[in-house]
Amino acid sequence: MYLSLDGRGPRYAQLIRALKEAILDGRIAAGTRLPASRALANELDLSRNTVLIAYDQLRAEGFIEAHVGSGTWVAALTLSPKPKAPRLAVPPQSRYARRVRRTHERRLGRLHRGLRYDLQYGEPLTNPTIMKSWRRELTRAASDVHIDYPDPRGLPALRDAICGYLARRRGILAQRKDVLIVSGAQQAFSLTARVLVNEGETVVLEEPGYFGLRQLMQAHGAQTVPVRTDSEGLTCTSLPTRGVRLICVTPSHQFPSGAVLSARRRLDLLRYAGRRRCWILEDDYDGEFRFDARPLAPLRALDQCDCVIYVGTFSKMLFPSMRLGYMVLPEALREDFLAAKWLSDMGTSAIEQAALANFMSGGGFERHLRQATRTLKARRRALLGGLRRHAGERVETVDSPAGMHVVVWLRGYSRAAAAALIERARRYELGLYSIAPHYAKPPSRQGLLLGYAGLPASDLEEAMQLFGRCLDEQRLTPPS
Ligand SMILES: Cc1ncc(COP(=O)(O)O)c(C=O)c1O
Repeated sequence: MYLSLDGRGPRYAQLIRALKEAILDGRIAAGTRLPASRALANELDLSRNTVLIAYDQLRAEGFIEAHVGSGTWVAALTLSPKPKAPRLAVPPQSRYARRVRRTHERRLGRLHRGLRYDLQYGEPLTNPTIMKSWRRELTRAASDVHIDYPDPRGLPALRDAICGYLARRRGILAQRKDVLIVSGAQQAFSLTARVLVNEGETVVLEEPGYFGLRQLMQAHGAQTVPVRTDSEGLTCTSLPTRGVRLICVTPSHQFPSGAVLSARRRLDLLRYAGRRRCWILEDDYDGEFRFDARPLAPLRALDQCDCVIYVGTFSKMLFPSMRLGYMVLPEALREDFLAAKWLSDMGTSAIEQAALANFMSGGGFERHLRQATRTLKARRRALLGGLRRHAGERVETVDSPAGMHVVVWLRGYSRAAAAALIERARRYELGLYSIAPHYAKPPSRQGLLLGYAGLPASDLEEAMQLFGRCLDEQRLTPPS
């Protein structure tokens, strides 16, 4: 326990002051168990008697409580918190920090917390059985794993399991040496920026697109160029004619519009990259969850010039707190990415990797995927049905046969009216989210991104009833 005695007066009084200060500051929280008197005396080089006197005094004043047989605890005090010292206005210490501050100001946090019906995009699929399986795998992995630093490329067993999965379900033929394990897709983006992009170089991003990637590239110092998407995904004819270093795409399920990159555009894009010698980052964040059509081959599977960096994540397929993802790398980039990964974190936690490898090789993972797809399909059906019944013609729903979210456009809404609708919904415990932050340049119409993974079908039906009610009330409210 870190306590600094001030050297003034008797030692027991110094200890009382130091403990009170730590409790009042919140450095030692209510409910914390204090060390036994002998242990604290040894640690601070005091006599045990000094500590006993201090504990007695603090107990008498109500700061701590002693429970026979279970030690001494900090009491729950009702105190008004000490005013925090104002944050020092330190100017950013690097160009990177300056850019990070700029992007951070526009960070997309969770807008609503603790609402009954929260349609936040990115909520994981709720499934209690998966957590039970995961606990079992973690326990097993923790007892088997080597305690040395892991292989920075990732555990061989996990890379093999991923290769098997990619061949079976995504049509990608990769070998263990092509795969790099990362801490989620976000780390894959970060390594890609470091290895491939200098400050000021051009990175093409989809418009609209994933804000996490846009902010990362801007913080890195890249010149980001938004390229329009339509119902067939990225419009390849709008790509800059030269100077592009990297093109970032979500071909399986364009984020956030939901479009699938058409077969013709996949070939156009690969031809463009091959001719102009630039790289493609294929973000396959939720491509697994398709409900109707057969999936088109990923760019990586069609790539003849070895220019596609394929990124997959377990955030959607399992859950995001796991922080595991993978890259399938072109041969020419393998060593650079490995070095960057090593410098970044010396490898991803081995226990989680081993647990996931076992889960995948034992068949549990693909069983989970099949069940998750069925669940998501039912939730999507409930959401779309609810939208039809309760919102009707007042919204235009973008139908997308994949993923965990749906986009709806509000007919005839101004930006202010859309903000008022979101606020009204919040009062009914319904969390709605605008699509606008996913655009580099705000769209002319107002839309919502409705994430449906985190709520059961019955809740989604109720949520859509509330949505319809908010639309009714909004229509009755004269514009201010
Ligand atoms: C389109 C897209 N790409 C990438 C990611 C990042 O995934 P990860 O959690 O693996 O960093 C997300 C997360 O929501 C996403 O929506």
